[in-house]
Amino acid sequence: STSSACSGTASLRSSLDCDSVSDVDWNNIGFKARETDQMFVMKCNANGEWHRGQLEPYGVLKLSPSAGVLNYGQGLFEGLKTYRTEDGRLLLFRPEENANRMILGAQRMCMPAPSVHMFVDAVKQTVIANKRWVPPVGKGSLYLRPLLIGSGPVLGLSQSPEYTFLVYAAPVGNYFKEGPDPIHLKVEDMYSRAVHGGTGGVKTICNYAPVLKAQLAAKKEGFTDVLYLDAVERKYIEEVSSCNIFIVKGNVISTPEARGCILPGVTRKSVMDIAQGLGYKVEERKVHINEVIDADEAFCTGTAVVLAPVGSITYKDTRVSFPKQKVEQHERVASNLYKLLTNLQMGKVPDTRGWTMEV
Ligand code: COI
Repeated sequence: STSSACSGTASLRSSLDCDSVSDVDWNNIGFKARETDQMFVMKCNANGEWHRGQLEPYGVLKLSPSAGVLNYGQGLFEGLKTYRTEDGRLLLFRPEENANRMILGAQRMCMPAPSVHMFVDAVKQTVIANKRWVPPVGKGSLYLRPLLIGSGPVLGLSQSPEYTFLVYAAPVGNYFKEGPDPIHLKVEDMYSRAVHGGTGGVKTICNYAPVLKAQLAAKKEGFTDVLYLDAVERKYIEEVSSCNIFIVKGNVISTPEARGCILPGVTRKSVMDIAQGLGYKVEERKVHINEVIDADEAFCTGTAVVLAPVGSITYKDTRVSFPKQKVEQHERVASNLYKLLTNLQMGKVPDTRGWTMEV
């Protein structure tokens, strides 16, 4: 059925195809957990053999209290989005990148991983089963959350004898409470996010609860989130709790190199490519905190975050505001990259790179 939320959208085709649920305030979805219709579940036995996966009603999981994920944190997650296009298609963005990242993460966490084909197929099935939860054009996206967890029982510290791959979905809008407005970051001076040889470069669940303490403290002081420094010298920026960071100086866009301590974001990689295509010099390297203070602009990228302009960064007692020079909104690098990226993701421009995948 067509919902009232869809009235007024551009084409006749989109209004006919827009079958979103009607009892959601699509203008205020934010980024929060919501029960949707179905989730995809697939299990792998101790021999590394995956059973045929299936869709099940979204609901609580039955898990042994001895499950590896509950006791020792053997788990990975992914995040990707589907947008509804004006002409009624549903587009995924580079899902193979997420599948490959899960394969690499699984190697680090000693888990079997679904193949790229299995991963993408599961994601597509989950989108189709929850199609009515894909927000109307311009209102957000359907966020897909693949999980890979050690679901079999362990007591001694060891690999789990069984694994579960699961994909669920939730409709989402803006990640930060600031919406599309600039976010305000505090450089964390006590806690570290990652160390060399650790797991900062993979999307294990273990990287995310430890950032809550610093994040909560920063939020209490009025900041949006925390920007981490390297754990050794405490001079080089790494990433924000939930996203990657870039700085702009003249024609050069720089981001910390992903060598084990940085999560190699799909949006990060895509934005680097788009920026290069626009003629910017894009550098992946160590970025000193003093360069951040000196930058013209800064922005964050992530699947959930998309591309968020940074309005200020506070390091010790110094607060630097961006953009440095007074530039019109449409002239800002972050605004332009945001538009190019989201136009592609939403199918508003031809996809010459083959990044989008129709469900
Ligand atoms: C994403 O951006 O998709 C993530 O997985 C980050 C998460 C903390 C929301």
